[in-house]
Amino acid sequence: MASQNPPRKIAADRYRSTTFHDREREQLWPQSWQLACTLDCLPDPGDYYEYRIAGLSVLIVRDEAGSLHAFQNVCRHRGNALLEGSGAGLSEIRCPYHHWCYDLSGRLTSVSRGDPTKRPHRSPGGLTLIPVRVDDWGGFVFVNLDPDAAPLDEFLDPMADELGWVRMHEYTCTSAMSLHVACNWKVVIDAFIETYHLHAVHPQMLAIADDVHTPIRLLGEHSMFYQPYGAPSPRVASQVGDQEIWEAFTHNLGHRLGLPFAEHANPGPHPPIPAGGSLRQVLIERIRAHLEEIGDPYPGIPDDQVIDDYHYHFFPNTVFNVFAGWFGFIRARPGERPDRCVLDMWNFDWLPEGHPNRHARPEERWLEAEDIPALGPVMAQDLENLPRTQAGLEQPGLRSVQLVPEEARIGHMHRVLDRYLGTSVDTELRDRPEAGD
Ligand SMILES: [Fe+2]
Repeated sequence: MASQNPPRKIAADRYRSTTFHDREREQLWPQSWQLACTLDCLPDPGDYYEYRIAGLSVLIVRDEAGSLHAFQNVCRHRGNALLEGSGAGLSEIRCPYHHWCYDLSGRLTSVSRGDPTKRPHRSPGGLTLIPVRVDDWGGFVFVNLDPDAAPLDEFLDPMADELGWVRMHEYTCTSAMSLHVACNWKVVIDAFIETYHLHAVHPQMLAIADDVHTPIRLLGEHSMFYQPYGAPSPRVASQVGDQEIWEAFTHNLGHRLGLPFAEHANPGPHPPIPAGGSLRQVLIERIRAHLEEIGDPYPGIPDDQVIDDYHYHFFPNTVFNVFAGWFGFIRARPGERPDRCVLDMWNFDWLPEGHPNRHARPEERWLEAEDIPALGPVMAQDLENLPRTQAGLEQPGLRSVQLVPEEARIGHMHRVLDRYLGTSVDTELRDRPEAGD
């Protein structure tokens, strides 16, 4: 378990320097478990899925017997990349460059002849694709390039216990979207693991989310907070009435009540509140009724679990936002430069048993700037803010960023990062006084 006293100062170079970025490319991404896709991305023998991050390409394949394998996406002959994207129907992996072939467990099975009248240049056998560790949990496929890494269940501990009640593996990914963002991958993760920015960036959420009473827990390499929903933030509680809470809730989370999308923006007057009751209680009952409609996945769960937000960071680059009946993850994948990344957003719904789309293969979609408003105001606000954070972090006079206690999960992430990189967030700023210190 990492220190429970996360650092208060983080070197700004961690977000902008090529040196730090290269260090991550050499020591973090090739050595940490990462969520690559869902089991539903490759349900059948012959299915494959390519996971790309920081110049790495991992090929995940389901073999004829139904087992998953993962490989570095490179032919052992001359180093060509083997496959791109995802697909189905493989019976072998054939390099497009010279047609060397591998079976779905990665074994070289044939080498094309230079002269078709003569023997092949080498006999197949022995040579294999470079294996990558692969395992699954919760319906998700995780990969790790490090053959000596601890097993996945050890890495995830205690997340499997924390999230066991959700039964994530029974959910279906109903949208999988990606877009390019002009910021460091950690700028994305930071923005999704604290509620401190809610009042400034998402003021409309204060009517329905408590941004102040959000207890943080550090869990192994990971972390979580819990956020009450359906009642206003203490910052605005005295100014917000029930009708405003009702409208803000339907606008942002109408799907949790089972409301048709058209009613999210204009839900009409709030439902009657029984004497001595509260609108939060009414919302809880409405969500319970909707959960019953979709198959009652969580019979008898306590009220808090019905309505509130359970929010998890899976080190290094994935953040889950979990509500009963719906969850989503945000994942940040760096590219070639420290100030650019890809942001993935995958949403999951509980589809009742027998639903024709249950466990459908996700259809991944790239978004452009004009698609952002359709993601809703919260995401649009965050996406506007992220490049602004990076632009500020690039200013040379800024040596460090200062964390407040509400941002403890960010500090924790940097401490965990240190373990992979051999760096020290506590000492790297020691000999570098800066303006205003
Ligand atoms: Fe945000």
